[in-house]
Amino acid sequence: MADYSLTLDDSEIARYRLMADIAERRERALWTAAGVAPGARIADVGCGPGALSVRLADIVAPDGAVWAVDRDGDALAVASALAERSGVPVHTATGSADATGLAEGSFDVVMLRHVLAHNGGREQVIVDHLAELARPGGGAVYLVDVDVTGFRLRGAPATYEEMDERYRELHRRRGNDLSIGIRLDELLTAAGLEVTAHEGHIDVMTPPPGMRGPAWAARDALLAEGLVTPDDIARWDTAFTQIEQARTEARTGLRFFGNTYVAIGRRV
Ligand SMILES: C[S@@+](CC[C@H](N)C(=O)[O-])C[C@H]1O[C@@H](n2cnc3c(N)ncnc32)[C@H](O)[C@@H]1O
Repeated sequence: MADYSLTLDDSEIARYRLMADIAERRERALWTAAGVAPGARIADVGCGPGALSVRLADIVAPDGAVWAVDRDGDALAVASALAERSGVPVHTATGSADATGLAEGSFDVVMLRHVLAHNGGREQVIVDHLAELARPGGGAVYLVDVDVTGFRLRGAPATYEEMDERYRELHRRRGNDLSIGIRLDELLTAAGLEVTAHEGHIDVMTPPPGMRGPAWAARDALLAEGLVTPDDIARWDTAFTQIEQARTEARTGLRFFGNTYVAIGRRV
């Protein structure tokens, strides 16, 4: 069974790109406050397919660079290809979030986005490691994560509730805290950092075609865990397809609402 519950198909890559657009619009001032500026050295841990790594590299280039780490080789391959196509300095490496292999004390900003909610019980060990990577005398750890209990998908078929419940059960079984976003500041403080920001906002987005929320993206993991059957998945697919067609004809659409939190901790 895959360790991580989101598969990486075209619609997922589109979702990550959309997340990068939303993140930049929402967080640009926080990125600057943390130290994302021309010439900076940035670590993007749990970078996934690198949509954010590329965006950050564009800001710090040409004198700075981004070191993008993930345990998933497929995601890293996408990140490398995206960086090459974009012509920006991104160095990719396989590693785990609590032992990246990156040089300690050498980064202006160490970013970790949407990783902690998938690492139940290891959250503090991970943040402790990130704190060691930050440059003493001002380097920052920048965390982003969610509170899934507040997520909504307006216009979704009735089956969405059922899918969502199975998705939460998957994470419960793995010991994951799907509300980790509301305690990011505590993790930073416990890692010995000075918290300079902890903010929350609700992202509102029109999902690109094929994006049907986190439970749909995690359907293979739900199947492997025995939480759904192939018939369930076929039933969900039919329900979504009908809704998507009906809403296209009516010129309305699905709308996603997601509670997201950002926290910054500084190494003194
Ligand atoms: C939801 S994606 C987020 C990707 C990216 N940070 C973003 O916000 O677009 C989570 C990524 O974290 C990686 N990941 C999760 N736990 C990890 C761990 N313990 N060590 C390394 N990578 C991890 C997964 O492989 C996946 O690519």
